[in-house]
Amino acid sequence: MTAPLRASDPVQVCDPVKVKVALGERSYDIFIGRGLLASLGQRIAALRPGAKVAVVSDETVARHHLAAAQASLAAAGVEATAVTVPPGEGSKSFPVFETVCEALIAARIERADLVVALGGGVIGDLAGFAAAVVRRGLDFVQVPTSLLAQVDSSVGGKTAIDSRHGKNLIGAFHQPVLVVADSALLDTLSAREFRAGYAEVAKYGLIDRPDFFVWLEANWRDVFAGGPARVHAIAESCRAKAEIVARDEFETGDRALLNLGHTFGHALEAATGYDGARLVHGEGVAIGMALAHRFSSRLNVASPDDAERLEAHLRAVGLPWRMADIPGPLPDAQRLLGYIGQDKKVQRGALTFILTRGIGESFIAKDVPASEVLSFLQHSHPA
Ligand SMILES: NC(=O)c1ccc[n+]([C@@H]2O[C@H](COP(=O)([O-])OP(=O)(O)OC[C@H]3O[C@@H](n4cnc5c(N)ncnc54)[C@H](O)[C@@H]3O)[C@@H](O)[C@H]2O)c1
Repeated sequence: MTAPLRASDPVQVCDPVKVKVALGERSYDIFIGRGLLASLGQRIAALRPGAKVAVVSDETVARHHLAAAQASLAAAGVEATAVTVPPGEGSKSFPVFETVCEALIAARIERADLVVALGGGVIGDLAGFAAAVVRRGLDFVQVPTSLLAQVDSSVGGKTAIDSRHGKNLIGAFHQPVLVVADSALLDTLSAREFRAGYAEVAKYGLIDRPDFFVWLEANWRDVFAGGPARVHAIAESCRAKAEIVARDEFETGDRALLNLGHTFGHALEAATGYDGARLVHGEGVAIGMALAHRFSSRLNVASPDDAERLEAHLRAVGLPWRMADIPGPLPDAQRLLGYIGQDKKVQRGALTFILTRGIGESFIAKDVPASEVLSFLQHSHPA
């Protein structure tokens, strides 16, 4: 492998890696590579000649990357307007959703035009959901700018805003028509957000790609540094997700595997009031995955060695891996269980968890008794 690029190196356009999401007439390509934002305008002009676009982003992403996106669109003769919202999970709300929908309508984005989501998972979910409903459905393009968005949220067509009852409870399945993942955009991401996104990368190894997990254990430093290893990790993650989504687009079966770590993770996010200063989504997933492995060993379906191996990897990359790593007090185990009960993976009172038989051997467990979860939470609680 060649020497990793540093954030300070000039952006060079490399041949992109192409990953196809095979969904019949809703199929689309994901292009992954360093410097790809410069090609956005050409790709859009080729895909949808004559289309206008509305670029939705948040203020932070807009400050770093909106001008370059607009320049690429202008160079290709694509007429573009910009819609910018505040950064953070708080924008996945009805008021901001309304603002985005009204802005798309005001900009006269019609059925033949495109919405471009330029941002992290929040923007992808928010702009994707607006695209799903404005004029009964507009096509949209994902230009993910966070690692989490490049490896997870921009692929697969889940879009949503949050309810006061929980995350992602109001949304739609709406596939993008194109995903352009420029790994150089991640150079402006904070170290903490990059690490948080890495939790989702590791997740694919833990679900069903044990060799990928071994590769990550050996190469994670190069992934963090940038360059070919980063592109490889993003592409492998997109391949893993695309495969699962192609098998089960609407999450009636296997797709739930992608929720590994998310049941505990979402509960911890809710328990910390979605306060990003305490816990961001990917960190919740990291702790959630470690808990899912510990819980599996407590239920005697996996060896504690696998939980230890995962915990060691999360520690090595600097991710939190236990509840005690979350700053500030947490609600007690009974209240945490209440947050788990609010999670959408609950069916008729029974708890559904993604458990594991070992690294790369995750499975869907339905009817996990709440009493087992409660006693595990009591055991794992830092208080
Ligand atoms: N739809 C799905 O399948 C799916 C999957 C996983 C997560 N999600 C959702 O994704 C969201 C989390 O995504 P996220 O972690 O990307 O959060 P985010 O969109 O809030 O981005 C994190 C922070 O990084 C900033 N940022 C993003 N790109 C940047 C860049 N290139 N340079 C500098 N700053 C940048 C943002 O402004 C924000 O402050 C959650 O709402 C979660 O529910 C959705």
